[in-house]
Amino acid sequence: MSDKPKVFVTRVIPAKGLDMVRQLCDAEIWKGELPPPKAVLMEKIKGAEGLLCLITDTIDDEVMDAAGPQLKVISQMAVGFDNIDVAEATKRGIPVGHTPGVLTEATADLAFALLASAARHLVEAAAYVKAGRWKTWEPMLFLGADLWGATLGIIGFGRIGQAMARRARGFNMRVIYYDVNPNEEVAAQLGAKYLPLDDLLRQADFVTLHVPLTPETHHLIGERELKLMKPSAILINASRGPVVDPQALYQALADGGIAGAALDVTEPEPIPMDSPLLTLPNCLIVPHIGSASISSRNKMAEMAAANLIAGLKGERLPNCVNPEVYRDGA
Ligand code: DGY
Repeated sequence: MSDKPKVFVTRVIPAKGLDMVRQLCDAEIWKGELPPPKAVLMEKIKGAEGLLCLITDTIDDEVMDAAGPQLKVISQMAVGFDNIDVAEATKRGIPVGHTPGVLTEATADLAFALLASAARHLVEAAAYVKAGRWKTWEPMLFLGADLWGATLGIIGFGRIGQAMARRARGFNMRVIYYDVNPNEEVAAQLGAKYLPLDDLLRQADFVTLHVPLTPETHHLIGERELKLMKPSAILINASRGPVVDPQALYQALADGGIAGAALDVTEPEPIPMDSPLLTLPNCLIVPHIGSASISSRNKMAEMAAANLIAGLKGERLPNCVNPEVYRDGA
């Protein structure tokens, strides 16, 4: 029997992190292409002192019960943690780790790429060429929207929202933002102007979502909000799928209520193949790849491993979402 702490890792993660975990822990790593089903996760986590998990794992009271009272740390390889019942972990004194900062720029890069792709029909245009349909230069082919000088509406002005504002400056965009906690100092530095949500929706040419998923942000963008947007506007979502009501989005896109959408995230994930959104030419969907740059994923794996190891040693997690588990609560 190993004297190293037993941990369960719910998927193969980049070696930079996995090697750190393997070195110091008695680690079982789920090798499946898909996440472990909940029953399997509950079986595997029995007796573990640490769990390294992903956004695809539901970590609730049942899973924590299945682990047992020796569970010392839950470390998620992601910045978002809406899949974890953090209140329950806190009640049990279990610190929960996450990986903020290292995926900010990669996620903003992807969101901006989605914005440009949707505005200029890149995906359809590339498919048109591959299908052998490019016969001549056409005056009216794939006409799209300008980025230069357009108004970008950023909903959620945290790290990633601010990174979008920095990119927008290079495109001479007017930047407006909405956040429940407006940050006027940072906004002034980035040339962004606070607007109430409805005003932002009315004025923006591009609306980009960067809020965490909470009960307050669930279906934040629904029928009413989509109706406020310009018919020429494009919606970008690189936050969490359930921030947008998918039925309302389908209706708005199908009826010309808005011009387009570009989604890195959907509700549910993966999007079911019979989702009507997949039938729309003006809806671009990619499979939740916001943070998928090589360097970001390496850093996320390292950070998740560092959080896990700190928790196993009884040390403060370098990046903890529930610091109230510590005596000083800081
Ligand atoms: C996160 O980190 O929350 C992303 O959604 C996955 O990288």
